Amino acid sequence: MSGFTPIRILPGEGIEVLDQTRLPQEERYLRLSTVAEVAEAIRSLRVRGAPLLGVTGACGMAIAGEERGAGPEALAESAAELKATRPTAVDLGAMIDEALVAVAAASGDEEGRRAALWRFAERALARQRERDAALARHGRDLPGLEGAVLTHCNTGGLATGGAGTALAVIAEAWRAGRIERCYATETRPLLQGARLTMWELGALGIPGTLLPDTAAASLIASGRGGAVVTGADRIAANGDGANKVGTYGLAAVAARHGVPFYLAAPASTFDGATPSGEAIPIEFRGDDEVGGFGGERWSPDGGGVYNPAFDVTPADLIAGIVTESGVLRPPYGPAIAALTG
Ligand code: MRU
Repeated sequence: MSGFTPIRILPGEGIEVLDQTRLPQEERYLRLSTVAEVAEAIRSLRVRGAPLLGVTGACGMAIAGEERGAGPEALAESAAELKATRPTAVDLGAMIDEALVAVAAASGDEEGRRAALWRFAERALARQRERDAALARHGRDLPGLEGAVLTHCNTGGLATGGAGTALAVIAEAWRAGRIERCYATETRPLLQGARLTMWELGALGIPGTLLPDTAAASLIASGRGGAVVTGADRIAANGDGANKVGTYGLAAVAARHGVPFYLAAPASTFDGATPSGEAIPIEFRGDDEVGGFGGERWSPDGGGVYNPAFDVTPADLIAGIVTESGVLRPPYGPAIAALTG
């Protein structure tokens, strides 16, 4: 962690989330105490990043218990509402399902069930922090993490509630003196790289260089990046990995130039029930994100927009997947089955 937390849990009351749409200009926490408020915060990317979406989903279920009652029917309704907010990150739905299991196992009355949901949410956040720390240590010595590294989107503490995934690996490699610089793509259309990763790199004291997404191919070709490391939102049973749109292009170009491309993701981001990337649901977002920014429109109205939030990198382009249990290497099928089984 670099001195901030993207989420604070207030058992019995709600949560406070750092509004990531305001960063880096403003560090403003929002108090959320209804399911509708949690759903809005997720949809608007005030909270974001696969592991943090999981933790927020668990908190959303505890909030649902307070607001709507902790009986099975009321909780199932809230679970469906929260799961529908963002489809690609598997952590969100998985943690909501885990919360339902935890409350079903809790003995006692309504009050006891509510308390069980808050305990589960707090455990989910604590577990994420432990996973991040272990994952970062496993990734530190990856081949290619030398000199400089390229990353995409935002995968630091803002995206998990702990140290992060890919950015935590990069931070460990930097502390170990293996890398001197991190190149960060701006990550259009919502600029998670320009706004959030550059902010986190600054907080960590790591020299960062921002580049337009369109410059990534030539940066890789120039040999300036020893490796590309990104996070993931859902990794299928065969190792195909969905991540922020543009990741596939980075992996393809990295392969063309013999630069290793790695994913870093905790076990919660693996989806053993989805056989391959083709079956991963991809979120499509509105045209306002591409046609303008921050309320300002720069493209003429009426034109069509293609705005997938994620793409899928085929497993054969991935040199390794860093997890809290170690680095998975191809062929990924058996390793993922062992991790998720
Ligand atoms: O749309 P976002 O900002 O939620 O997308 C986030 C990403 O794509 C991250 O790379 C991914 O969730 C991994 S976060 C540790």
